[in-house]
Amino acid sequence: MLRTAMPTAVPTPPSHPFLSACRGERPSRTPIWVMRQAGRYLPEYREIRSRVSFEALCRTPELCAEVTLQPIDRFGLDAAILFSDILVVFDAIGVPVVFNPSPQVAAPVRTAADVKALRWGRAADHLDYVYQAVRACKQALTGRVPLIGFCGAPMTTASYMIEGGSSREFEHTKAMAFTEPALFGGMLENITTLLIEYLAGQVAAGADVVQIFESWGAAFAPDDYRIHVLPHVRRLVAECKPLGVPIILFVRGNAGLLSQIRDLGADVLGVDWSLDLSDAIDVVGTHQVVQGNLDPLTLLGPAALVTEKAERIVVAGRSARAHIFNLGHGISRHTDPAMLQHLVDVVHRS
Ligand code: CP3
Repeated sequence: MLRTAMPTAVPTPPSHPFLSACRGERPSRTPIWVMRQAGRYLPEYREIRSRVSFEALCRTPELCAEVTLQPIDRFGLDAAILFSDILVVFDAIGVPVVFNPSPQVAAPVRTAADVKALRWGRAADHLDYVYQAVRACKQALTGRVPLIGFCGAPMTTASYMIEGGSSREFEHTKAMAFTEPALFGGMLENITTLLIEYLAGQVAAGADVVQIFESWGAAFAPDDYRIHVLPHVRRLVAECKPLGVPIILFVRGNAGLLSQIRDLGADVLGVDWSLDLSDAIDVVGTHQVVQGNLDPLTLLGPAALVTEKAERIVVAGRSARAHIFNLGHGISRHTDPAMLQHLVDVVHRS
C-alpha cells in the first residue's frame, strides 16, 4: 500500500508558535496563517490551474502538496492548510459536484428518498486520496510548519447538497429544517458521522491541527441555529476531541453565535470580521484562544491601512489567552501577494 511505502514524515516541533498558541500558551510572536492562503491570488497557483482542473488538483496528492506549500515557501506563514475543499466529502456519499469555480450539485438532496439513496456508512473510507494528500504535505513540509486539516461544519456542508450550490438565502435548507426537522436532523447526523471519520483519517495521516469551517453560520437566526444546527457541531467537536489534536472552530456570521459556540470545547475559536476582536474576546472570555480577524478586503487598500488595522488586532489579541492572527474570512483572489507579505511582516514584528 502507498501509505507504508512512503518514508516517515518529519514531525513539527511541539514548540512551534502556532501549536503553542493552539494549546493556550503565549508564543514569543503572534503566529499568522490566512484562510484560502493557497489559491487564485497566487500566480504559481494559477499556473498549475491552467493545466489541471480544480477537481483533478484535489485528487492528485503530489499536486495538493505542491500547492499547499506555495504560500509557505513565499511568505513565511506559521501554518500550512491542506489544499482541498470542504465539498470533496460528497465523493464519499455519491453526490457529484463540479466547480465552476463556484460549486454546483446537479442533483440536489431534498427529500427523504434522496437522503436514503446516498452511500452512508464508512463513507470516509472513500476519501483515501485526501489522506494521501495529507501524507504528501507532511513529507514536503519536513517539519517546517504544522499542517492544518479541515472539514466543513455539518450544516454548511449539507447546505451545498440541499441548495445545489452556493446560496444567498438558504431557502431549501431552512425550509427543510423548519418543515421536516427529523429529516434535516437525520441528514446532519449522518453527515456529522462522516465528518468525524474524515477528520480522524486526516489526523491519522498526519494533520497536526484541524479546523471546522461553519462558513454559513449566519444562514440561521440564533434561536434556530441553537435548535437545528448547534447539537451537530457540539457532537462533531466532542467526538474529535479524542483525536488529540487542537480543534479550531471558525463560524462566519458569528457575532450572534459566539455565545453559543464558546462552550463546545473547541481549543481555538475563529472570529470573522463582523465584530472587533476585543468585543469577541469580551463574549468568549479571556481564557479562550482566538483566531482572526482582519477583513480580507483590507488587503486591497493601502499598506499603511493594513499596518494600522493589523497592529490594532494584534494589540486586541493580547487580552486573550493566546491569539493566532488570520483574516476574518478567505483571502480575496484580487489580492496582491506583496500585500500579504506586508501583513505577515507587520504581524511578526508587532
Ligand atoms: O484555505 C486554503 O488555502 C485551503 C484550501 C480550501 C479551498 N476551499 C480551496 C478552494 C479550503 C480550506 C476551502 C474551504 C471551503 N470551500 C469553504 C469554507 C471556507 C470559506 O471560504 O467559507 C467553502 C464554503 C468551500 C466551498 C467552495 N469551494 C466555494 C464556495 C468555492 C468557490 C468560491 C470561489 O472562491 O470562487 C470553492 C472552490 C475553491 N475551493 C477554490 C479554491 C482555491 C477555487 C477553485 C479554483 O481554483 O478555480
